[in-house]
Amino acid sequence: MKEPEKLRSMVIQANGMLPFEVYRDLYDLAAQFPGDTIVEIGTAHGAGTISLCLGALSAGKQPKVFTVDRFEGRYSSRSAYGDVRDNLEIVRNNFRDSGIGEHIKIFAGSSSDFAVQQCPDVIDILVLDADGRIDRDLINFASKLSPHAAIVIDDYDHRVSLSSRPDGSTYVDLKHVITKRLLDRYVAEGLIDIVNVQKSTAFCRKAEGAEWDVDKMADMALECYRELVFTDIDRIALFRWLRKRVKANVPPWLMQRLRNYRARQVPAH
Ligand SMILES: C[S@@+](CC[C@H](N)C(=O)[O-])C[C@H]1O[C@@H](n2cnc3c(N)ncnc32)[C@H](O)[C@@H]1O
Repeated sequence: MKEPEKLRSMVIQANGMLPFEVYRDLYDLAAQFPGDTIVEIGTAHGAGTISLCLGALSAGKQPKVFTVDRFEGRYSSRSAYGDVRDNLEIVRNNFRDSGIGEHIKIFAGSSSDFAVQQCPDVIDILVLDADGRIDRDLINFASKLSPHAAIVIDDYDHRVSLSSRPDGSTYVDLKHVITKRLLDRYVAEGLIDIVNVQKSTAFCRKAEGAEWDVDKMADMALECYRELVFTDIDRIALFRWLRKRVKANVPPWLMQRLRNYRARQVPAH
C-alpha cells in the first residue's frame, strides 16, 4: 500500500527516531491487519502513532490508538525536550497537525501503570518501542492480546551502545541486546512468530494456538537477563563513541591545533 506523500514530512516533524522504512511498514500493517485497537508503548513525539493511525484511516477503519510514554526520567530521550507537560504539548500539537487527534488517547506514565489503569480489553496491534524490557510488557498485556495479534518490537539487534546525557554523565545501553535475547527465547518456545524484520524492528504475530503462561515467561526472561552479566561490546562502536566525546569536550582552539598538527604529518606527494 502506498503511503501518502505527507507521511514522511509528518514523521520528520514528529522527530521520528526510526528509519522511514519502519514507519512505512507500520502504516501498511495498520491498514492491512484486521482489527482497529492499537496500543503503542513509547510515543516519543508521535511519529509511530501518526504512521499507525494514518495507515488504519487509509483503509477506512475507525482506529482507537492508545499511546503510552512516561515523557520523563533519567533514561528517557524525552527529558531533553522539557518535562512531561512540555512533551505532552509537543505531542498533542503533532497529532492535531496530522489531523488524527480524535483517534488517539495519550497516557502519560509507565507502561505498567497503563496496563492496570487504562488498557483496552482487546489489543489487535501492540507496538513496543520503550526501554527494552519487553518481557514486562508482553506479560502485562498477555491477557488482552487478540488470538492472532500483531506485535511489533523495536531494537531487535545485538548492538551495545554507550550514551551520554547533556550533563556529561554516561551509561551503557543494553536495551537492544536484551530485546534480542528475550524475543529469540519466546520465538524458540513457540510463543511468537517473527514475520519480517525491517532494519532493527521485528514485525511479529502471536503464534497460532500458543498458550502464554506468564509465570513461565517470567522465568525465561530471568535467564536472559542473567546472560547480560558478560556482554560483548563492539570495539569500533566504542572507539566511535570515544571520538565523539573527545570532539565534544576539546576546546575549538585545541581542535584546530590538532588538525594543523595532523596536516603537517601528511607526507607531501
Ligand atoms: C525510542 S523512544 C520511542 C520512539 C518512537 N516510537 C518514535 O517512533 O519516534 C522510547 C520512548 O519510550 C519511553 N519509555 C521508556 N520506558 C518507558 C516505560 N516503561 N513506559 C512508558 N514509556 C517508556 C521513553 O520516554 C521514550 O520517549
